[in-house]
Amino acid sequence: MRVLFIGDIVGKSGRNALTEHLPFLKEKYGYDLLILNGENAAHGKGITSKIYNSFVELGADCVTLGNHAFAKDNIYTFIDRADRLIRPYNMSPMNVGRSVKILKHEGKKIGVFNIYGNAFMENYTLTPFESMDLLMQENPCDIRVVDFHGETTGEKYAFLHGYYDKASLIVGTHTHVQTADEQIYNGCRFICDVGMTGAYDSVLGRDSEEVVETNRTGIRTRYQVSRNPGMLSAVWVDIDLETGRAVGIERIQLLP
Ligand code: FE2
Repeated sequence: MRVLFIGDIVGKSGRNALTEHLPFLKEKYGYDLLILNGENAAHGKGITSKIYNSFVELGADCVTLGNHAFAKDNIYTFIDRADRLIRPYNMSPMNVGRSVKILKHEGKKIGVFNIYGNAFMENYTLTPFESMDLLMQENPCDIRVVDFHGETTGEKYAFLHGYYDKASLIVGTHTHVQTADEQIYNGCRFICDVGMTGAYDSVLGRDSEEVVETNRTGIRTRYQVSRNPGMLSAVWVDIDLETGRAVGIERIQLLP
């Protein structure tokens, strides 16, 4: 079974890059399951029902979120009905939406979990370890895939060493910068950060002129997303359905 995981889709540039490249990715990699991180999809912060529906129409089996999950008020009107949308388990508010999507493939149950780092993050509740233990108890499945939405490499590596025997794939998201450390560690596929799908000529998807000015003056400005042409960042991973363990991982970056 091949999983394609596409990293943080930022604004219109990211959405356009996704739409443009997905047919090529499908043809070249022939993935079975498609997972997207959509937490920056609506003008850099959050996701709307319209954008979520467009991802489902493109074939997304699961859309994960992160620290901006609740940035758009619209989310509260549809998150409980959006059965392919998951939000970080250990982030407040805890009482809306779900944090696990169970996918089925050739008789196997594949659980996709959304977990939130604590290091340099806001509004977290439990630790990632407490979260993973609870999610595993509450959601029995054959194969586990984790979107670990966090800031630091150290925290993501600690999680890998805590759960390589429980998870088949751990993908880091949030930093928007793809790391070159994709690996198979004792049968678990891992990359510290898959990187973003958003404007290539930008600061992490944001308008670079604005961010430079903010850094120069220390004065906060309105959050502007870059409209420059988008790049796409992803990993594909092969999972042996019998053993649940690794047979391949490769990272992808498609530049404009
Ligand atoms: Fe994030």
